[in-house]
Amino acid sequence: MKHIDKIFIITMLFSACSTKKEVSPIPVETFLSKHQGKEITLHTLENTNGLVCQITNFGARVVALWVPDKNGNMTDVVVGYGTGKDFVEKKEEYFGATIGRYGNRIGNGRFTLKGKEYILETNNGENHLHGGAEGFHRQIWAVEEIKDSKIVFSYSSPHMEGGYPGNVKVKVEYHLTDNNELKIEYFATTDEPTILNLTNHTYFNLKDGGQSSINNHKLTINADFYTPVDKGLIPTGKLEEVAVTPFDFRNSTSIGERIEDNHVQLKNGYGYDHNWVLNKGKEDVILAARVEEPKSGRIMEVYTSEPGIQFYGGNFLDGSVAGKKGIKYRHRTAFCLETQHFPDSPNKENFPEAYVFPEEKYYSISIYKFLNKI
Ligand code: BGC
Repeated sequence: MKHIDKIFIITMLFSACSTKKEVSPIPVETFLSKHQGKEITLHTLENTNGLVCQITNFGARVVALWVPDKNGNMTDVVVGYGTGKDFVEKKEEYFGATIGRYGNRIGNGRFTLKGKEYILETNNGENHLHGGAEGFHRQIWAVEEIKDSKIVFSYSSPHMEGGYPGNVKVKVEYHLTDNNELKIEYFATTDEPTILNLTNHTYFNLKDGGQSSINNHKLTINADFYTPVDKGLIPTGKLEEVAVTPFDFRNSTSIGERIEDNHVQLKNGYGYDHNWVLNKGKEDVILAARVEEPKSGRIMEVYTSEPGIQFYGGNFLDGSVAGKKGIKYRHRTAFCLETQHFPDSPNKENFPEAYVFPEEKYYSISIYKFLNKI
């Protein structure tokens, strides 16, 4: 080989090894769209470490989040769509969304408050899910404030919207902090007694943004109990110990390790799709869960003020929907960790109450913190 060729190959190899994957945000113009005659917009937050998060006013959703791996390579770890149009039209409805008024299911779409029965839409078999088909995830939120690494959205939900009582005013604040946290704060008030359970439904894959299975991700959940469900995914009302079950994530365990175990709850949930009862005492905010992706070294920790967390392992993704960069999200290529009050709490006396009264202020916080394994 000629000397000059050798130099060329060595230079190419060197630059291939040393080129880091950089952030490539979605161009705002390609995202724009309209819904109900209103503009769908995209906003970009950046922190001083170069992390970038993109958020839309359609459902106050997280669209993309670039975080580094152990070598400093940036990847978008959020699974979902890359255009406003896709968010409006495609069948996977909850990617990245703010969920309300009630995160997860309410049995038979009914609950009673102060002696009055309220009837909600049954959009998930015979049950109500995530606030109904036109819940908060499909509303255009107003941008109240946007500053460097922070954005505040607001939405006013009229009395009886989706069947829920009370005029409810909600604010959601996203802050991409310099500690590499995506901090989400929820504030709300109502003028009549109501129920509220706000959460965020971002789907993550810390390895490659949804191209491969999440089964090798290692999960820890700070919970001694979980709430088993019936076949319609409504909690039975029991709190069951995780000990000696595939639901024991008190020590870091691969998601896929026990997923095919012959356990009735894995059958009812089609895999993991359950609420864990967090080991929470009087602390305001606790570490609820931790996910580590061994190959990239990316780690995500979830902190919350909520009593529960829904770990949903992407069981209903079936490869039929193409998202960002045309990636078809197959079975279990993404997971959600949704901080929450327990599903069906309004119908379960022993679960923490999800009521909000006019004299109170609703507040909830969830933090998704990104770290690397050295
Ligand atoms: C629920 C799943 C549901 C998914 C929809 C999760 O919060 O628990 O059952 O399929 O949301 O994206």
